[in-house]
Amino acid sequence: MLDFVKDKKRTHYTEKLSKQNIGENVTLMGWIHRRRDLGGLIFIDLRDVSGKVQIVFHPENEAVHAKAGKLRNEYVIAITGKVVLRDQQNINKEIKTGEIEVDAQELLLLNNSEPLPVQINENVLAEEDLRLKYRYLDLRRDKLKDIILIRHEIVYAIREFLVKKDFYEIETPMLMKSTPEGARDFLVPSRVHNGKFFALPQSPQIYKQLLMIGGFDRYFQIARCFRDEDLRADRQPEFTQLDLEMSYVTQEEIFQIIEDLFKYIFNKVINIDLPIPFPHLTYKQSMDRYGSDKPDTRFDMELNDLSEIVVNSEFKVFSGALQGGGSVRCVVAQGCAGYSRKQIDMLTDRAKHVGGKGLAFVKFQDGEFQSGITKFLSDEEKKNIIKKSGAADGDLILFAADTNKIVFKVLSKIRNYLGKELELYDPKQFNLLWITDFPLFEYNDDEERWETAHHMFTLPKEEHLKYFETGEYEKIEGQLYDLVCNGLELSSGSIRCHRLDIQKKIFNVLGFSEEELDEKFGFFLNALRYGTPPHGGIAPGIDRIVMIMSGAQSIRDVIAFPKTLQATDLMSESPAIVSQKQLDELGISIKAKKNKCTEKGK
Ligand code: AMO
Ligand code: AMP
Repeated sequence: MLDFVKDKKRTHYTEKLSKQNIGENVTLMGWIHRRRDLGGLIFIDLRDVSGKVQIVFHPENEAVHAKAGKLRNEYVIAITGKVVLRDQQNINKEIKTGEIEVDAQELLLLNNSEPLPVQINENVLAEEDLRLKYRYLDLRRDKLKDIILIRHEIVYAIREFLVKKDFYEIETPMLMKSTPEGARDFLVPSRVHNGKFFALPQSPQIYKQLLMIGGFDRYFQIARCFRDEDLRADRQPEFTQLDLEMSYVTQEEIFQIIEDLFKYIFNKVINIDLPIPFPHLTYKQSMDRYGSDKPDTRFDMELNDLSEIVVNSEFKVFSGALQGGGSVRCVVAQGCAGYSRKQIDMLTDRAKHVGGKGLAFVKFQDGEFQSGITKFLSDEEKKNIIKKSGAADGDLILFAADTNKIVFKVLSKIRNYLGKELELYDPKQFNLLWITDFPLFEYNDDEERWETAHHMFTLPKEEHLKYFETGEYEKIEGQLYDLVCNGLELSSGSIRCHRLDIQKKIFNVLGFSEEELDEKFGFFLNALRYGTPPHGGIAPGIDRIVMIMSGAQSIRDVIAFPKTLQATDLMSESPAIVSQKQLDELGISIKAKKNKCTEKGK
């Protein structure tokens, strides 16, 4: 059995077979997906990476038929036989090879399999935790396999496109210095230098800028990035970016390259013709209209600012928010005036979940506003609310009153939820757009300090440089841009700060002392002294692109071996405890185990 490879060679992948091959003798290798023993005839669906084909064993071929009788699901076999046309009534339109079958002449059992702990069946999916534990089996499932193959094709198409556009693919280190880039670093202790640490890159940001200083002009990399942050449906601790950077480039040129690239991969991989150029919204427009800097523009339901209309409102929730410097805004859920108390409570819970104090509402029915807050609204206010929001009879109007930050969070959450719930868009549509003109800085109220809204290596707009002197940091916009699709941030980038003096001003606003700067970024600031060309770039998240293009709901479905939401690998049971010897070599002692999970390595 072990020397089968010597005298048997696979001639075809299952799904490559078609009517063209009728009469040919073929050898196939793969797993037994399904087996039906009809007493006389035995049928097997043989599965390989390409798909499936039906194999038939006739009782006349006694030896092979007897062997086939002993086969079980997921056994691995090699089969030689003749491709034949199926009878008209047996044609299976569900599978690509449904018109033919292979009449088995020889059968080799290459390996058997114990009964599987998770079934390879789309219709009876086991719990996700169990599937993650046996990920290698779950990967045999068509749906997951297809996504991983789409991912391969996307990455291949990206390389093909960029190499033709004169980009060089260059690797950058995985072990680097820990720099305060945004998220928490994953640290790697040094054995050679006890007490010192490397960090895994959150992105190759500094290195790609150094490559521009090093003269490479156009760089890209399919780059692994590591961030120790709270996970969500679209975040993993270890993910992949298409990282790219160009010298002597404008924002518009970067947009064009990315638009052409996306058009190319959508066309090549999923046969969709994306319209380019993508529309643009400034950050401010996006927030005002959608309450979000990653708006889902497949449907309207835009926000309406009612602040001026209700400025003197008797409703204290409204006037109070305005007096506190906030705003009152609403969205209109068309045709939802019939919502029950329970449905509205559920929406209110969603509002509270993102920090809202509540969610006021009115039902516009039979020409009148109906709800608890109606009594506080004057006729004039009602008239103006209808006019501004475009609400019509039968609609439900939902209001948020708070600081702008909370109002946007609440209404964008409600909008996204209702858009899906009310099926306001075609889930197969792709709405890509650019969000531009982000503020460079944001004030962190909790920590009472300025932070960069995106990242700290961005060139401010020239006309805003004066605000560094006046201290009006909130007015400084950067040459920053995001690419958004269907409510997901796909990419982020900027024109970089190639001037040392301006970069230092940015660091000053962020509150770094000279010593800290020298310690954390000295090598980078030094590099800026030696003829740094103007440059800029962007980094589309590959995992998210694959999610969008394959329709996957979770980022875990687009990664061959993902982590759970608790940042663990259930298959290898990591992170895990290491030996005392390893810790001693690193000069590390563990203070206290925080919880049982750490102990078990879960
Ligand atoms: P940023 O931090 O915005 O920018 O990341 C760029 C893109 O990477 C993807 N992404 C993620 N995907 C999965 N899981 C995560 N935890 C995760 N975090 C980010 C997103 C995001 O748009 N150096 C800059 C880029 C640049 O300016 O060139 C950067 O890393 O799709
Ligand atoms: P209350 O005055 O707390 O009884 O709230 C009256 C209505 O206003 C309820 O429907 C609340 O959900 C809603 N509400 C309370 N606070 C806010 C707020 N900040 N924004 C919008 N609606 C609110």
